[in-house]
Amino acid sequence: MNREAIEKRLSVRTYVNKPLTQEERMVVEKILKHAETIQTPFGNLIRFFTDHQDTTSDDEAKRIGTYGFIKNAPSFIGGIVNNTFEGIIDFGYVFEAIILDLTRNELGTCWLGGTFQRQAFNNIVNEGEIIPAITPVGYPTDQPSFKERMVRMVIKANRRKPFQEMFFDHDFEHPLTKNHPYNDIFELVQLGPSASNKQPWRILVDENLFHIYLERTPNYATSVPFVMQALDIGIAMQHLEIGFQEIKKNFSRITLPHPQKEGYEYIISYTID
Ligand SMILES: Cc1cc2nc3c(=O)[nH]c(=O)nc-3n(C[C@H](O)[C@H](O)[C@H](O)COP(=O)(O)O)c2cc1C
Repeated sequence: MNREAIEKRLSVRTYVNKPLTQEERMVVEKILKHAETIQTPFGNLIRFFTDHQDTTSDDEAKRIGTYGFIKNAPSFIGGIVNNTFEGIIDFGYVFEAIILDLTRNELGTCWLGGTFQRQAFNNIVNEGEIIPAITPVGYPTDQPSFKERMVRMVIKANRRKPFQEMFFDHDFEHPLTKNHPYNDIFELVQLGPSASNKQPWRILVDENLFHIYLERTPNYATSVPFVMQALDIGIAMQHLEIGFQEIKKNFSRITLPHPQKEGYEYIISYTID
């Protein structure tokens, strides 16, 4: 079920020009309510908000500055978290769970970390907090766009980095190949969305240990007041854990001694039994 959502999700930037029904709004509320109960890796609390439009104009998109990038989105959702590196990872972790839940419910989404006006939501953000990202929510466009989506799916598959550039076996001298026993789990991480598709997550696996690192893209997203790529790490962690659940492995997140590599920033480790 979770794998299906990961495989199905893709960024939807054009929507059917129609408000969400009351039932769909309730589905969204339920998903957000559930998300607020998710224990985040670093313990930060996140508040979520919705922004539904009753008309079929793009007025709200104009107000929050997504107009042009995102077409006909009937609703938006977002969240607020402490603006710390770990807070942003936590946000990425939970927001991706929301995105996958919406995907399961046939609703289209698109992570937006850059192309919207944060100031449009100033009235709900306290000092020290930030809205790292929002997403439109709506009905993905149908038949003609479906084709487009299929094409995009193919392109997307080609756009993901190969395992050897992201994953390592025992040490950094041994890039991971596709015949590793945890191949399927790494595939779930590989499929994750990331800001500008930079895929900055790195994982070193050593038997039942997984060390997670961030390789920051130099000079990337310097105009936003937080570490954009920390969101990608949260997303990778969410996908990795879905993989552990799929093979029915219990896991713990823990800080451990770890191999080092220049340019790789250690985040956390997982042990599985
Ligand atoms: C943290 C994050 C921020 C993103 N910000 C934007 C954005 O500001 N505007 C946009 O159009 N897409 C944004 N995206 C979408 C990515 O471009 C997209 O996920 C990536 O190209 C892979 O394509 P896919 O989502 O269709 O698999 C963002 C994605 C992530 C994970």
